[in-house]
Amino acid sequence: MPTTKQQKILVLFYSLSGHTADMAREVAAGALSVANTEVVIKRIPEILPDSFFGDNPNLARTRDSLHAEFAEATRDDFVEADGILLGTPTHFGSFASQVKHFIDGLTPVWLKGKLVNKPIALFCSAGSMHGGEEVTLVSLMIPLLNLGMIPVGIPYPIQSEGPDFDAGSPYGAIFVSGHGKKPNEADKKIARILGVRLASLASVLSCGCEHCGSCRIFAENLGNL
Ligand SMILES: Cc1cc2nc3c(=O)[nH]c(=O)nc-3n(C[C@H](O)[C@H](O)[C@H](O)COP(=O)(O)O)c2cc1C
Repeated sequence: MPTTKQQKILVLFYSLSGHTADMAREVAAGALSVANTEVVIKRIPEILPDSFFGDNPNLARTRDSLHAEFAEATRDDFVEADGILLGTPTHFGSFASQVKHFIDGLTPVWLKGKLVNKPIALFCSAGSMHGGEEVTLVSLMIPLLNLGMIPVGIPYPIQSEGPDFDAGSPYGAIFVSGHGKKPNEADKKIARILGVRLASLASVLSCGCEHCGSCRIFAENLGNL
C-alpha cells in the first residue's frame, strides 16, 4: 500500500487585541481534525512601533502574551505549507497593514511562482456587524489571487440554519467582537468548518502520489500549466 503523505497546514494571523487569535485556535482545531494533517499556528510580525504600545498598556499586554504563545511566521513558513488559513482584524474597513506588509514581503517567491495553486482560506474579526468584515475578506483575496493561490470559503448550504447562519460568510469565517463578546459556539463551529475545508482541499492538491486518480488529474491539468 502507498504511504499517505503528512501535510502541513499553516494558520497565520495578525491580532492586535486577541480576537483574531481566538479564531486562529478554532480554524486550527478544524484543520487538525483532517487525517494526516500537521498544523502550526504562527503570527504575522508586528510593525507598529513600541511607542504605540507604550501609550496602550492593555494592547501591550496582549501583544506580549501572543508573542509568548505563538512564534513569528517567516516567508519560508508560507512557502512550505501545503495550505494556509490566514486571519486578520478589520482595520478601517479592510485588512490590517501588518498583513499587507507580510504579503508584500512574499514578492521574491511570487516572482518564482512558488505560491501558485496553494489553497488559502480567510478569517477575520471586526468590531461591528456592519464594520466591513466581508470587504476585509474579499479585499484580502485580491493580492492572494495575484500570487496564484486558490481561495476556499464557506458556501451557504454548509453554514446551514439558525445561529450558524449568522456566524460565517461565503468569503470566510467572521467573528464580530463588539460589546466585549467572545466567539460563541456558532462562531467556533464555522471557523472549524473552514479549517476542515481548507485542510481537505490541501490534502488533494498536495497529495502528489501516483496512485489516486484525483491528484494525477490535478498534476496533469493545473500543476503543469
Ligand atoms: C485601527 C483599528 C481600526 C478598526 N476599524 C474597524 C472597522 O473599520 N470596522 C470594524 O467593525 N471594526 C474595526 N475595528 C475593531 C476591530 O476590528 C475589532 O476590535 C476586532 O475584533 C479586533 O481584532 P483583534 O482583537 O484580533 O485585533 C478597528 C480596530 C482598530 C484598532
